[in-house]
Amino acid sequence: MQFCAFPNTFAAGLFVAALSVTVAVPMASPHAQEESAASGVESAPPVAPVDPIIEKGKYLATIGNCVSCHTHKDEPKFGGGVPFHVVGGPFSEPFGTIYSTNISPDPETGIGGWTEEEFSHAMRKGVAANGSHLYPAFPYTAFSKITEEDMSAIYAYIMSLAPVKHTPPENDMPFPFNVRLGLFFWNLLFADDEIFQPDPEQSDEWNRGAYLTEGLGHCSACHTPRTFFLAEDKSQALSGGTYFDVVEEGKIRKWSAVNLTSSDTGLGKWPEADIANYLRTGHSFKAGTFGPMNEVIINSTQHLTAEDAKAIAVYLKSLPPIERNTEQTLSEEASARGLAVYDEHCEECHLQSGRGGFLKAPPVSGSAIVQAPDASSLINVILYGADVPDEGPAPFGAWEDMGAFGDKLSDEEVADLANYLRTAWENKGGRVTVEDVAKQR
Ligand code: HEC
Ligand code: HEC
Ligand code: HEC
Repeated sequence: MQFCAFPNTFAAGLFVAALSVTVAVPMASPHAQEESAASGVESAPPVAPVDPIIEKGKYLATIGNCVSCHTHKDEPKFGGGVPFHVVGGPFSEPFGTIYSTNISPDPETGIGGWTEEEFSHAMRKGVAANGSHLYPAFPYTAFSKITEEDMSAIYAYIMSLAPVKHTPPENDMPFPFNVRLGLFFWNLLFADDEIFQPDPEQSDEWNRGAYLTEGLGHCSACHTPRTFFLAEDKSQALSGGTYFDVVEEGKIRKWSAVNLTSSDTGLGKWPEADIANYLRTGHSFKAGTFGPMNEVIINSTQHLTAEDAKAIAVYLKSLPPIERNTEQTLSEEASARGLAVYDEHCEECHLQSGRGGFLKAPPVSGSAIVQAPDASSLINVILYGADVPDEGPAPFGAWEDMGAFGDKLSDEEVADLANYLRTAWENKGGRVTVEDVAKQR
């Protein structure tokens, strides 16, 4: 978090806004379920015509991943109650919890009584039908880019679903962060509510990719670093962010979302096809999914059409490189210590070259995870293993899960290993300390 992103002259006026720095950064529920279906008219003879607007709305809602954030574990779809752990401002650890709302069309506990205008207003401005201001854990700052036509389709789809009667738990936020009015000032200063404007200089494909990435896909909610006031730092857009989410059942730790720009430590060396494949199948020659991306892929991006996945890849590849990594020089001794751990525990699958193997594992040389500006996800994958989802396409058909090394390696060994990985081959990444590792335990 960088305080310096704000000129001092702003500081006084920002005091009230500072009180509202309660931006919970997304923490998606681990077991969001795929739905059963829209209308539930099963035996309607001969074939009930599918409303194309509702179908379209369903696809768009899937790309927006409403389900991950609004469906708690095995509870009914869109009933709300998914917890979001709030960090921000001077707090580096979560200090409160808010719960997502019921967005099923139930008139009492959900949004069944909302008009399309009220729905659209909430999606674009973060203001509920009763006028109260919503926390930006709800990515309305991205959803504001959705076109009128697409917004209508999403509304039609949600209203076509079965109502769910469910009241999510009360938020648990300390004063003054529980005062929603503060969010009014936050919005005034930081929220951007413009509908996506296509760039006439770019191709239709690029524009489609930009629309999906910046709007419905809300990739920036996790992949863009935030300022002290927890607004996304636009000058470093998509260059890698951090937030809190589960590492294993009941345990919340920091995660880092990688640099998605064309920097060598980001997606610079990923061909378009590898980006598209990763989004649609969870795997490519460059990476395999684990951690928070599991849910993004299972609930959302695996359903992208081939054209839309390619459009996102085209857009991401066009992003100019932003390099935030500092280089470190590792002493020969330290490097040898890290290499010894690598040889004993990792080499079998990721190989001496670090390039991984087709039926074994993705590469660690050139990996965006290994080189992320913040090493939390690298430390997490070592301590907790790579939990590959059971559903969805099988990882390269055959590779064996990567187990957890938390019990096998000490904090010193994990730090040595991480520093080795962040300097070996052509990798470039800043220092990982023993304390960094201890925090992720
Ligand atoms: C990253 C998580 C996340 C995603 C993705 C998300 N939401 Fe939400 N949404 C939330 C949270 C959290 C709230 C509650 C905010 C609050 O109480 O201040 C919310 C609130 C809302 C509200 C206001 C409801 C009310 O009763 O006040 C609507 C409407 C809504 N979301 C619709 C959607 C739709 C439609 C999608 C998919 C296109 C979606 N959301 C995707 C997290 C999310
Ligand atoms: C809920 C937060 C969240 C959202 C939303 C999100 N990501 Fe991620 N992403 C992460 C995290 C955390 C990682 C690193 C750990 C992991 O793979 O889970 C990551 C990793 C990645 C990787 C690198 C995979 C690797 O192993 O090298 C790519 C590529 C990626 N995300 C693309 C996207 C795109 C494109 C979008 C938008 C469609 C997106 N992400 C949306 C959190 C998110
Ligand atoms: C049994 C084989 C195996 C071993 C041993 C192993 N891994 Fe992995 N590793 C994998 C697989 C498979 C994945 C991809 C997970 C998936 O399917 O999505 C992976 C993923 C990773 C990733 C994420 C790569 C990316 O960009 O997505 C990193 C980093 C990593 N491993 C580091 C290590 C380290 C460090 C060690 C040693 C402590 C190690 N692995 C040991 C199989 C292994």
